[in-house]
Amino acid sequence: MGSVDLSVQVGSLTLANPVLTASGTFGYGIEFCDYFNVADLGGISTKGLSLEPRDGNPPPRICETSAGMLNAIGLANVGVEAFCRDKLPQLRERGITVVVNVFATSVEDFEKLATRLDRETGIAALELNVSCPNVDHGGIEFGRDPAAAARVTAAVVAVTKLPVWVKMSPEAPDLRAVARACQNAGAQALSAINTVRGLAIDADTWRPRLANRTGGLSGPALKPIALRIVWELSHYVDIPIVGIGGIASGRDAVEFLLAGATAVQVGTASFADPLAAKHVCDELSAYCAERGITPRDLVGQLKG
Ligand SMILES: Cc1cc2nc3c(=O)[nH]c(=O)nc-3n(C[C@H](O)[C@H](O)[C@H](O)COP(=O)(O)O)c2cc1C
Repeated sequence: MGSVDLSVQVGSLTLANPVLTASGTFGYGIEFCDYFNVADLGGISTKGLSLEPRDGNPPPRICETSAGMLNAIGLANVGVEAFCRDKLPQLRERGITVVVNVFATSVEDFEKLATRLDRETGIAALELNVSCPNVDHGGIEFGRDPAAAARVTAAVVAVTKLPVWVKMSPEAPDLRAVARACQNAGAQALSAINTVRGLAIDADTWRPRLANRTGGLSGPALKPIALRIVWELSHYVDIPIVGIGGIASGRDAVEFLLAGATAVQVGTASFADPLAAKHVCDELSAYCAERGITPRDLVGQLKG
């Protein structure tokens, strides 16, 4: 993609460029290979995987909102075994940089997932979705509690040689404390942010528009919140941040890098345009080429 050296370093991992796709918005990556060469991206984050396959929530489970969408997919996925058997070999063959997103409701299950994935080749990093209820501790999300987030991170780091990224939930009362706890527990990067809970209502039927009632808000509506969180966290931790939230153009990516992100993920934008992440990457490359800079020159350079 052009002459600019777009490579970035996320912990021990070197990415060819800073643009990845976000978990849950790009399937297992293979679905998009008919549209463009997915290996040209910095990487993909897979649909969140659990130990066992899951059907997720009943429909309707997504709806459009002003400047975004709500989803209550309920973490539907094929399960880690089917992923390793059916999906990963195809990703490997295509040379795609694969970040595997995982979730569980106990530390033990996170550990099992990481142990299983550690046996595979072709995985660049694990991304822990800690926005899940911790069944061993009254159902409070791991990602809301610094101690719980640290326990999961440390347990996973202990059983894998893969770099571990932890995905920040914007719902945490003290996200900076969670971020630092994850860093101290061995996380190599933080992905920020996951969706924010919202509610959409149909004024004709007087009913919620999602069967689950509430869902996660994503898309452009999330961008200022995500930028603020990336900016705050980048002043609070020393590990790289992967910025996520409403990114749909190269300029959006530039904003996240200026705020302090080292790389970015494109999520909801891929629903409207399957080529969105490629466009973000091409536009970022053109932006850098025009100015004679690299993406690395932008990181944390917000003025004022
Ligand atoms: C339909 C849908 C499914 C998602 N599934 C996951 C998931 O399985 N694991 C996860 O960590 N994040 C998941 N997310 C959150 C996204 O990865 C991303 O953090 C969020 O959507 C914000 O980015 P965006 O505004 O670019 O979409 C999902 C988002 C959407 C819209």
